[in-house]
Amino acid sequence: MKRTQYCNDVRAKDVESRVTVCGWVDTRRDHGGVVFLDLRDRTGLVQIVLNPSTNDAVAKVAHDVRTEFVLAASGVVRLRPDGNANPNMDTGEIEVMIDDCEILNRAKTPPFEISEDCAAAEETRLKYRFLDLRRPNLQRILMLRHKAAQYVRRYLSDHGFIEVETPVLTKSTPEGARDYLVPSRVNKGHFFALPQSPQLFKQLLMVAGFDRYFQIVKCFRDEDLRADRQPEFTQIDIETSFLDREDLFKIMEGLISGLWKDTVGVDLPLPFRRMSYAEAISKYGIDRPDLRVPWELKEITSHFGKSGFSTFDGIVEKGGIVKAVNCKGMMEKFPRSVLDAMKDVVAPYGAKGALYIRVQPDGSWQSPLAKAISPELQKAIAAELDMTPGDIVFIVADVPKVVNDSLAFLRVHLGKFCGVLDEKQSELLWVTDFPLLDYDAKDKRYVAMHHPFTSPHPDDIALFETDPLKIRALAYDLVLNGSELGGGSIRIHSSDVQSKVFRALGIEEKEAREKFGFLLDALSFGAPPHGGIAFGFDRLIMMLAGTESIRDVIAFPKTSSASDLMCDAPSAVDARQLKDLHIKLT
Ligand code: AMO
Repeated sequence: MKRTQYCNDVRAKDVESRVTVCGWVDTRRDHGGVVFLDLRDRTGLVQIVLNPSTNDAVAKVAHDVRTEFVLAASGVVRLRPDGNANPNMDTGEIEVMIDDCEILNRAKTPPFEISEDCAAAEETRLKYRFLDLRRPNLQRILMLRHKAAQYVRRYLSDHGFIEVETPVLTKSTPEGARDYLVPSRVNKGHFFALPQSPQLFKQLLMVAGFDRYFQIVKCFRDEDLRADRQPEFTQIDIETSFLDREDLFKIMEGLISGLWKDTVGVDLPLPFRRMSYAEAISKYGIDRPDLRVPWELKEITSHFGKSGFSTFDGIVEKGGIVKAVNCKGMMEKFPRSVLDAMKDVVAPYGAKGALYIRVQPDGSWQSPLAKAISPELQKAIAAELDMTPGDIVFIVADVPKVVNDSLAFLRVHLGKFCGVLDEKQSELLWVTDFPLLDYDAKDKRYVAMHHPFTSPHPDDIALFETDPLKIRALAYDLVLNGSELGGGSIRIHSSDVQSKVFRALGIEEKEAREKFGFLLDALSFGAPPHGGIAFGFDRLIMMLAGTESIRDVIAFPKTSSASDLMCDAPSAVDARQLKDLHIKLT
């Protein structure tokens, strides 16, 4: 029996024709001996009818067949009898009357039901990922992923980009995570590092003159996992020469908006919005704000210190800050029980609580703050926060990091709680002018905020000597609805500036040569001005598919503890392998 078409392609146009379909039995219904099966393949479902009176072969299959058996079935298509059409099924108008069929393979009873809304534990589904992948939603997402990859290749090729592969067995590239190491058998005691990104290679390709490079590439990072992080993930990695940031933004906006249009038919507004890092932190407390929530944070530190509210005054005296978010007109949504639970919402971010102010119809405050501060001060704060009756304001006071982290989370939490966050909206944003350096208080040294190859802003070079934390970088992130889709920068293309940055990072000349000698050499052999970006491909697909877990967009993902439950990896290796690799376990 040779398949004539996919299940979901059998439609009313085929009525009276003979078709052969192959697939897995999705459901089996026995109506007094006549067996109705929904047969499933990667396109969808079609109903086939096995009437045992047709012939012996059909009768046998009808008797034996169970869900998830693999079947080939042939017959004539007919319209379903009156009243039996299923409007919820693409092929719901028709059915195939089978007169020839064969069980191609039997299947054990699966450990969970293969259905769109499967409720089985994720661990079980990951252990039997090959079954989980039969679920139509995962199939749809992987096909979307395929389509997206095709679009990216086409767009970038049409814009003069060349796809070049870079090594997987390589040397550490600092992107802020731990490396996955691979021991070398032939070079005793030496290790390769799997790339955290192809950063250095793409810069070398610019030095070599390729001008525009891209790669859809696996990257490896041994870091704490979250819902949008995997230890091995895929980037759309991009680098260009002789372009400035504006040129690059334009090409990238074309790529992302075209991708949305091509895959999900959505028109993204162009150009994308922009915001400096400083503005993002000030108004949203985070460098990847979710702009779907309309409320902004406002700093009100200057009103405290001698306000009479000792908790806040004490914090401000010690150098802390006070920030607030006004949820306009939402007072009625917050009964006492919800307000009491607010403490638990901000606790994971280190805040001791979020103080509230309910603005009553007469403008008076219902708040733990109301009795402690003067009516004049209340008036000044109300004006600053644009408070009108019906509003509810939340305030956090602490050291800046705790205030920003907790309010950034709380703002989005409240937006969801109050129903002002439209899940369908797509708010894209370039965040620019990141600081070049951050200070690691534990190690007492500066660290690169992006990576050490990012160009400082040319106007800020003098600050290396005076105030390094104020140096802005020519770095940018693309943010969508609070998620970082990609990040990049204009690079350093002079070996002098590169050495300056290494020095600021406390990387001595010897260490710099050991780690990145080849890059410093390359920069001294005519490196063109260059810059680029990398998008998290998995995250793009999450956004396009509207799913919250990165594991939904990767065929064979790892768990949150970085293991593969299906292959049982990582796993122990035998002593001989370790000996070959000159490794002793302690
Ligand atoms: P960056 O480290 O910002 O930049 O990474 C680029 C993008 O990759 C995605 N990403 C991840 N996705 C899933 N799991 C992870 N563990 C993970 N880590 C990062 C994010 C992120 O925005 N070489 C630079 C780019 C450049 O400068 O051109 C780099 O890798 O979406």
